[in-house]
Amino acid sequence: MSHHDLDPICNTSDNRHFQEVLTQSLENPARRGLLRGGLGLAGLALLPGCATVGTGLAAAPSALGFASVDKSLLDNVILPAGYQYTVLHATGDALDSALPAYSNRGTESDDWSRRIGDHHDGMDIYYIDSQGRYSEKETARAVLCVNHESSADAHFMHPNGQTSNRVSGKKFDQFGEWDLGTRPELEVLKEINHHGVSIVEIVKSPQGWRVQKDSPLNRRITAQTPIRISGPRAQIENIRQFMTTRWDTAGAMSRGTLNNCGHGKTPWGTYLGCEENWAFYFQTTGGAALSANDVASRRRYGVAAVPPAAGVTKAVSQGWHTVSATDDRFARWNLAALGANAERDFRNEANTFGYNVEIDPLSPNSTPAKRVAMGRFAHEAAVCGLPKAGEPLAFYMGCDSRNEYIYKFVTTAVWDPRDVGTGMVAGDKYLSEGKLYAARFDATGQGEWLELNIADPRIANHSAYKFANQADVLVNVRHAADAVGATKMDRPEWGAVNPRNGEVYFALTNNSAANRTPTKVDAANPRAYTDPDGKKIAGNPNGHIIRFKEAAQQATAKTFAWDIFLFGAEEDSGDANLSGLTAKNAFSSPDGLWFSKATGICWIQTDDGAFTDETNCMMLAAIPGQVGDGGKVTVKNKMAVGGAEQSGTQETFMGAALGEAKLRRFLVAPKGAEVTGITETADGRTLFVNIQHPGELSKALSSGEAPQSMWPGNQGYGVQGRPRSATIVITRTDGGVIGL
Ligand code: FEO
Ligand code: CA
Ligand code: CA
Ligand code: CA
Repeated sequence: MSHHDLDPICNTSDNRHFQEVLTQSLENPARRGLLRGGLGLAGLALLPGCATVGTGLAAAPSALGFASVDKSLLDNVILPAGYQYTVLHATGDALDSALPAYSNRGTESDDWSRRIGDHHDGMDIYYIDSQGRYSEKETARAVLCVNHESSADAHFMHPNGQTSNRVSGKKFDQFGEWDLGTRPELEVLKEINHHGVSIVEIVKSPQGWRVQKDSPLNRRITAQTPIRISGPRAQIENIRQFMTTRWDTAGAMSRGTLNNCGHGKTPWGTYLGCEENWAFYFQTTGGAALSANDVASRRRYGVAAVPPAAGVTKAVSQGWHTVSATDDRFARWNLAALGANAERDFRNEANTFGYNVEIDPLSPNSTPAKRVAMGRFAHEAAVCGLPKAGEPLAFYMGCDSRNEYIYKFVTTAVWDPRDVGTGMVAGDKYLSEGKLYAARFDATGQGEWLELNIADPRIANHSAYKFANQADVLVNVRHAADAVGATKMDRPEWGAVNPRNGEVYFALTNNSAANRTPTKVDAANPRAYTDPDGKKIAGNPNGHIIRFKEAAQQATAKTFAWDIFLFGAEEDSGDANLSGLTAKNAFSSPDGLWFSKATGICWIQTDDGAFTDETNCMMLAAIPGQVGDGGKVTVKNKMAVGGAEQSGTQETFMGAALGEAKLRRFLVAPKGAEVTGITETADGRTLFVNIQHPGELSKALSSGEAPQSMWPGNQGYGVQGRPRSATIVITRTDGGVIGL
């Protein structure tokens, strides 16, 4: 999303890229294609010999059952023949009938805490049984939780766009940076309240799923909602010292959640809203000088530091702090050391963001919790490995910035299926105590989980940041991962777990020319080239998807085997098109990633700026094999570096080619939108998909130009004119299973 365009490189550690490649012959097991397209789930379950061992799930099909959609630059959602969509809800829709319908002209007052938020992102569905309890089985009543990545790019919710010092008609200010300067109170209140998570009851009617207005379960979590700070018992007092503010001098509570991007669903039935680009909301204005350690902490997280990190010309922010220095709703966004100590100001406020926020969707009065044990970074999805009774659980997490890491949290508590439906009580049990690791991907095709613990002398004696204790390691975990030599990745986006074999997939969306050149690549991030036409972006402009298999399939594994599932590319990009993509399945910048339990399809969603000269962002369906089903390949890299052509090779491991039978483009989004967030009904016949920020490249409203997109109003949803993010519901016209 947009903030990444100016994302400073905060990882200046000298963690090396692993160049050494050892010969390794990877198995190429024969795969059994058991099923043809077009069968319903009942048919799948009845076919002999097709259950996947240990999971109770039918095997994945051998081919997809729809015709690929073409690349599109149209301002609508394009689906294959035989598929249809409706809009479930869009930005600004009222949760209660007492509120006026959304104007789509920015004329609302400060009532956004009872409207659907902006920038729909990760989401999940929670069924409700006849007793009103959480149900793992499909029912006709559910709660849908939707993250709102809501960015600074919020001009459509104000009558004339955002009041800012941004040059009219330009996305960024005259410095090429995003700084909104001094802001009016009403705009800021609306923006604070359109962030967070929307929780709405949905019901299934003969016409399909629809929102249940006025349900007591409808709830908004915003950037102001009180949220509990939770962490390991032995460290909780130390953790609270990092969280102390004028608002809660005990550091036990925080306010709100920001930029909730990918998400997680826990095995016990709660929601994890993951905080991603929260760093851009703060400014540091005035106050006493910060300690060297505090400056090092802020710089590593891209938080407004004084002085800013090298290469950053000035600190940028949303300007929320400019409304008032005394009203805490606004003053909290200024991190300056203005008071005598941390109990008198908000110098610690940024320490309260960057976590997985656990929410119980069926308990509207419950207090959400920030799970500090899972680490503080730019969280992008938190996916749980396959739960096994009596064993710890593993959650896999990406840190979405260029050159950041992939992490794993392993619970101390072992999984007890009786905890299903027990909400935040189970959350406290599993997500407070555990071990946190960062991933190192080696050139051998193996990888290692590096524990992030103060007992490790590399962490205890780290020079770039001095850790006080294990609480400090959790709050400044990027520094700790630097210290142990984790592998810098090409911007980790969503992770996903294959429910049929437990293998873990991560989208590595792209990386810039500053980080990837033919001499600055490694086996896990092996490409450096130039987008061959149109945009001519260099680095790894189209991204890739990596996957790994834990040793002995254990959550507690210290090592894993990996390969690259797919390389994004334009079909005409020559050596960069390692996965053999065609016009029917070429894609760029994978972001959302999610497996259907019903069908085994791996859904891939894009948030792209490289292929957009030829097509809007998209969603593809893939039928994956397994780690090691391909083999070793040599990547040929070539790009201009400092005016001179540079070339080189890099060996890596790549999965078996999917071809057009197993990789097809299913959906193309409206203009300027990314596709992100997906879930399904358990029968595989309804897919919920989020369309985020249509019209992202619109000129400022003050320019008088029409927005880049007018979706979904142009399809008859709500008031026409401005574009809106939305959740859509996709079904087959014959009611069949999606994708087969
Ligand atoms: Fe919010 Fe990483 O995209
Ligand atoms: Ca192109
Ligand atoms: Ca092309
Ligand atoms: Ca994303």
